[in-house]
Amino acid sequence: MSKPQIPLEELRAQVAACHACPLADGRTQTVFGDGDPHARVMIIGEAPGKNEDLQGVPFVGAAGKYLDELLSIAGLARSEVFIANVLKCRPPGNRDPQAEEIQACTPFLREQTRTISPEYIVTLGNFATKFVLKTDRGITRLHGQLHQAGRFKVFPIFHPAAALYDVRKREALEEDFAKLGRMLQDA
Ligand code: URA
Repeated sequence: MSKPQIPLEELRAQVAACHACPLADGRTQTVFGDGDPHARVMIIGEAPGKNEDLQGVPFVGAAGKYLDELLSIAGLARSEVFIANVLKCRPPGNRDPQAEEIQACTPFLREQTRTISPEYIVTLGNFATKFVLKTDRGITRLHGQLHQAGRFKVFPIFHPAAALYDVRKREALEEDFAKLGRMLQDA
């Protein structure tokens, strides 16, 4: 028999109480995730930044504004998807997540994914992609192609923050979100 799903509100409370790694000491608050709990599409980013740590909501800074634009290219409103991150606490100075932090935090992401049970998981950037696809391949090689991980369709895309100052990545991101929109319509 499959494991029972943990209700999202229970998971949210577990995340808020978590002290499994030292990032807990530096946080203003945890950033659990946001959006439709029954979403067809779950978006997974890397980790909260300064604004997210202050507001407790993912992707509210510059990368978040751009993500909203990208979602609209796919024909999606932010309220229709569920957005979460690999890490639920902000790494100091927005440095990369460390392996031990990912190990400590991702049981929450795994449970979120089981509970939401989306059809598509869109992984933004290397950290989310490597975790979900259990691969060492980089995002440059994997983006824009549909993969399967268990029962989930996984579609890796560059992280929007990486594209803010790089026009070529912007083009790739916008093409990939347009492709996501077409896949959602066809399915
Ligand atoms: N970048 C991320 O990966 N996640 C956020 O929530 C904000 C910026």
